[in-house]
Amino acid sequence: MQKIKVLFVCLGNICRSPLAEAIFTDKIKKKKIDHLFVVDSCGTANYHIGDSPDSRTIANARKNGVVIEHCGRQFSVKDLDDFDFILAMDKSNYHNILRLLKDKSHTEKVMLMREFDTVNKGSEVPDPYYGGEKHFQEVFEILDRSTENFLNHIQETILQRS
Ligand code: 4NP
Repeated sequence: MQKIKVLFVCLGNICRSPLAEAIFTDKIKKKKIDHLFVVDSCGTANYHIGDSPDSRTIANARKNGVVIEHCGRQFSVKDLDDFDFILAMDKSNYHNILRLLKDKSHTEKVMLMREFDTVNKGSEVPDPYYGGEKHFQEVFEILDRSTENFLNHIQETILQRS
């Protein structure tokens, strides 16, 4: 079976998307299904290429028992071919990705992360960059729920049918 390729996207790739990548990776490792996936994250902006995640994101993830390791990179048009699921953290990221999409038959693979949330479904993962610990914790909880429901969706659709 081909691996399921999942890409989480935010603006800077140092707060929200590397955290989503780390939480999702933690969940698939705990379920011992990580060999079935390729998981990555990136940013639509070029501000933090090569950077580690924000120190506040690393500390918050650690507090919640999740290890985060990532090297910042920018979204590329090639990602639209390479990944099966592209999960954007907010509407600006979502529209910036769709603008680069030439093959419109791939539109469905681009989604808002919170399409999978049970609270405020379809809304945005707020950018915590200018916030404090309470905003980082809110982002953690949103991503914990949303990635859990996304993984359930994958298990119920793709994995149970293969
Ligand atoms: P992220 O947060 O998109 O969740 O990684 C941000 C990180 C950096 C900046 C903005 C948002 N920045 O302006 O440098």
